[in-house]
Amino acid sequence: MSEETAPYGTGPAKADAPAPAPRSGPAKVRTHHLREMKERGEKFTMLTAYEQYAAQTFDEAGIDVLLVGDSASNNVYGNETSLPVTVDELIPLTRAVSRSVRRALVVGDLPFGSYQASPEQAYLTAVRFMKEGGAHCVKLEGGVEMAPQIERLTRGGIPVMAHIGFTPQSEHALGGYRVQGRGETSARVLADAEAVQDAGAFAVVMEMVPGDVAGEVTRKLRIPTIGIGAGNETDGQVLVWQDAFGLRTGRMAKFVKQYADVHGVLLEAAKAYADDVRAGTFPGPEHTF
Ligand code: KIV
Repeated sequence: MSEETAPYGTGPAKADAPAPAPRSGPAKVRTHHLREMKERGEKFTMLTAYEQYAAQTFDEAGIDVLLVGDSASNNVYGNETSLPVTVDELIPLTRAVSRSVRRALVVGDLPFGSYQASPEQAYLTAVRFMKEGGAHCVKLEGGVEMAPQIERLTRGGIPVMAHIGFTPQSEHALGGYRVQGRGETSARVLADAEAVQDAGAFAVVMEMVPGDVAGEVTRKLRIPTIGIGAGNETDGQVLVWQDAFGLRTGRMAKFVKQYADVHGVLLEAAKAYADDVRAGTFPGPEHTF
């Protein structure tokens, strides 16, 4: 009779999987919880995630929101920017993350070209993220000009997180990675924030906006704001996990704080494995049937 052994992976989160670490707050994060946290003056947390184990780990750590960002383009698929990634490439990643969490709110990020053409295009794309990807809501980039898209999705039952300030999908139109909303242009950031709120967005990401401007927007809006390079007065914070935990190496944006050196850990582990195999010390008797 053949011996039964453990599978290569544990598969998605299951009812019998260990429960995430106990923490206060809701058992399952919903969009209204973020609004309630803002009202109570409680900060919330968001990270990107693109696959099963990172998603499970961040969920277990009590991260409130996981974004399957179009930054998968340059953090998973090897592109230089977020522009090339497609809906068909992001949906399987979204499905992996949504299957793997028990508590976090999962946001599917609509990629460049999949929603800008019309509210109808936005709706059809967002439906795919919800039905095929299992996303709980979607994110799209743009302010005043995206109000019709946000209204259409909201009317169709799809919660929308907006993204204003520096919007990476418009990198070429904005003339590169630049802080938005300095000086007189701060009025534009506020106008965008109010437009997405009025259109029905449940939250808004502000990227690379001066801290005082982001603070003012946060105080003026009823919906929660989430900052990335927008100082510490926003209601929540988001970072790309490969930046924050050091899987990616090289130059980092000023707003990134590195909490770990995952690249270093993997590098040493891979070298130790290679050394063992080359020396004939792995597999040992304890790894042999
Ligand atoms: O795609 C992404 O990772 C994002 C965050 C930077 C907010 O949009």
